[in-house]
Amino acid sequence: MPTAGRTALVTGASEGIGRALARALAAAGYTVTGVARNEERLRTVIDSLGHGHAALVADLASEEGRERVVQAIRQAPFDVLINNAGTATTGPFAEIPLDSATIMMNLNCHALVALAHAFLVGARPGDALINVSSTLAFAPMPNLSVYCATKAFVTSLSESLWHEHKSQGVYVLGLCPGTTATRSQPHNDDLPAGLVQTPEQVAATALTALHRRKQPTVISGKKNTLFATAARALPRRAVLRLLATRPTRQYTR
Ligand SMILES: NC(=O)c1ccc[n+]([C@@H]2O[C@H](COP(=O)([O-])OP(=O)(O)OC[C@H]3O[C@@H](n4cnc5c(N)ncnc54)[C@H](OP(=O)(O)O)[C@@H]3O)[C@@H](O)[C@H]2O)c1
Repeated sequence: MPTAGRTALVTGASEGIGRALARALAAAGYTVTGVARNEERLRTVIDSLGHGHAALVADLASEEGRERVVQAIRQAPFDVLINNAGTATTGPFAEIPLDSATIMMNLNCHALVALAHAFLVGARPGDALINVSSTLAFAPMPNLSVYCATKAFVTSLSESLWHEHKSQGVYVLGLCPGTTATRSQPHNDDLPAGLVQTPEQVAATALTALHRRKQPTVISGKKNTLFATAARALPRRAVLRLLATRPTRQYTR
């Protein structure tokens, strides 16, 4: 499908996977609108894409920020929406503040549903929605309980939406990266070499899937595919035991 003249909205476009997606889409000929909270960082990325791209500053964990982006989707229908912005708080469930859990659910689930709904109500044949999930959608992990649950939600939702919309020629994809070297994951020294992908590798997987328009769920990288396959095949208690031994890095944003 020709991409020149097509438009895309990418949430979380100022860093990490979202920034790589924005760059890959712009290089493929899309006009990109990027969303993030920090205006300066977002504008730097958008300006670097070239002429005609736009920055939309909004906090998607807030009602007001969600509404601003929903209105933008309604007013200027996009050909592609990428729900990428997401956050994680690590730690035992009862020890993390309830506020952190609520922000995770608001951003990873509530905002994603609100934007997906606004997009799909007006979607035309050829349009595509990508929801960025995680390989942890397939594997509950102690000390990342709420995050894993939000990503299981995203993958399940994306698969149902894929089926609901495919007869209209609208493609819905749940994209599952594994550990990716972004500011969320700055220290990956304990992981085997080759297990950590770059944001650019994840973006390339997404663009290939967008071109093929076949699978409801795409896992980025062969090793991550193996991990997800094993996590789905093993008894749940075994997966929990295995992942409980893995150190979770302390990060909260
Ligand atoms: N990195 C990994 O290992 C990994 C693995 C699997 C899945 N994922 C998923 O991939 C997606 C991107 O992760 P990443 O590691 O690339 O993240 P990242 O480097 O931390 O970047 C997050 C992006 O989202 C924006 N953002 C954060 N909170 C926001 C909010 N409330 N409203 C609007 N924008 C917000 C950030 O900009 P501002 O801070 O300026 O708002 C930034 O542009 C997430 O959904 C994550 O769960 C990541």
